[in-house]
Formats: sequence, C-alpha cells, structure tokens
Amino acid sequence: MIKKLRKAVLPVAGLGTRFLPATKATAKEMLPVVDKPLIQYAVEEARAAGIEQFCMVTGRGKTALVEHFDVAYELEATLRERDKQDALASLRGAQSEPGSITTVRQQVPLGLGHAIWCARAFVGDDPFAILLPDDLVLADRPCLAQLADAYYETGGNVVAVTEVPREQTNRYGILKVGKDDGRLVEVTGLIEKPAPKDAPSNLSIIGRYILMPEVIKYLALMERGAGNEVQLTDGMARLIGEQRFHGVRYEGRRFDCGDKIGFLEAQIAFALKRPELVVAVRGFLNNYV
Ligand code: G1P
Repeated sequence: MIKKLRKAVLPVAGLGTRFLPATKATAKEMLPVVDKPLIQYAVEEARAAGIEQFCMVTGRGKTALVEHFDVAYELEATLRERDKQDALASLRGAQSEPGSITTVRQQVPLGLGHAIWCARAFVGDDPFAILLPDDLVLADRPCLAQLADAYYETGGNVVAVTEVPREQTNRYGILKVGKDDGRLVEVTGLIEKPAPKDAPSNLSIIGRYILMPEVIKYLALMERGAGNEVQLTDGMARLIGEQRFHGVRYEGRRFDCGDKIGFLEAQIAFALKRPELVVAVRGFLNNYV
C-alpha cells in the first residue's frame, strides 16, 4: 500500500554566506524573488502537492521564518482599517494552518543528511518530502506535485532530476541510471558531488525529494562523505536495492537561488510571469541588452 504523503521537511539552517551582507541579520530563505520570500515558494509548492505538516530545520537567527507564517494581528487590523484589500489578500499564502509548522534546531552544521536526521521525530514512520528552498522551480505543474504523481504511481523513493553540464557534476548528487523511459529513471546508484571523470552520468538531483522513513536509520550512522559532511545522498544510496528508487525528469526551469546569478535570473523569469509586471520589465530589459 502506498501511504499518503502529508509531511515535508524544510532544511533552513544554512548561514547564507554567499549573500552576505544581506544575510547578516536575516535568513537567506527570507530573500524575496519579486515580492515573495524563497521559503514561501517552497511552502506553497508543498501545499500544492498535498503536504499538510511542515518541519523547518532551523538554526540561530532564523526566527523570521516562523514569524512569516504566523498571524500578523496588528498589521492585518491596520490594513483592514485603511481598506487595503489587495495588501490583505497578498498575506493569505503567508499564513499557515494552526499547528501545521513545527521547528527543530540543527545546532551544528554537519551537513544536509544531519539536518534531515534532526527531523526524525517529525518524520516518524511516514513518507516525507524534502524541499530545499534555494532551488526554485518555475513550472506549470509545481515540481513537488510532479514528484508526488510519480510517487503514487511507483511507490518508494522519488527525487527530481535534471541533466547538468559534465563539468558541473561536482556540485550535485549524481545518479547511476538503470531503466529510463525519458521521464521516470530507475536509480541504481547515487554519488554526492563526484568529479566529472568519476560521475556515472550527468543526471543530477535538485532540491526536491520524496523519501521513505527508513533513510533516517542510515543518516543516524553519521558517516561523513563529500566535504566531510553527513550527506543525504549517502543515506539515500543505502536504500537502493532495499526499496524502489526513481528519478523524475520534471518539467520546468530550475533556478539555483543559493547563487547570485541564479537568484538574479529567477527575479527576471518570475517577474515576466506576472501579468502586472511583464510589460514594464520587458521594456526596461531592452535598455540593458
Ligand atoms: C544539495 C545536495 C545535492 C543536490 C543539491 C541540489 O547540495 O547535497 O545532492 O544535488 O543540494 O541543489 P548543496 O547544494 O547543499 O551543496
């Protein structure tokens, strides 16, 4: 039986050093693309895939992430008094169901695998999604919903994958590929950040996962991998052979918002999707190219 997917873990403990000084006193996941913070894109995408319960793996200085999804009583009262209906409406996606967000702290930055292990009590015996808010995907059907479609078809573990240039395999988790129907790819091996010459393919994982709870027991071994960190990819690799494991070539465009260029490109791409902005943005872009 395939269990319903209701839970998502959002690892948000990173320091955001690539965006200093912007991230000195605020969380990098609060940086906006157009007018919405990265964390809200992730939460909305998760909701669209049926997720009801969220666990943010946070760290020091990340309280704004939790505040963002709370009721802002004074703000809302003021907006109502001034009859600012549009502003009020814009707050809707930023409010969560009561009790739907919990947090745990990752006290030391030992790696993504360790961050996910920190959420073990939340995960329990259920399948769960992971969304890395740095990875933003512009798609007609939200990326995690595409993964969930595949999960309900096949069961087991499912990760979002995309082809990357060979010389970039050392930035990603890379798949060893079995059967491949063009959309669904059987995963026969996983390696974190291999050098191009050691990479078994150029098919990389992006920050969307649906995993079975058994991955936690492998993360608990706390084995150090690439960069001397506890890698999620290494924990997942242990599931291969024990459980089903597929990659999904999702439809859509991914922006690495953990990087300045990716972040800037996302601003443009997302602004061009907004009916009220598209004409003005096209207009001024002409001045720069
Ligand atoms: C993490 C994962 C990696 C994955 C990537 C996607 O790496 O470890 O397997 O391909 O996210 O963005 P990081 O970007 O944290 O170095």
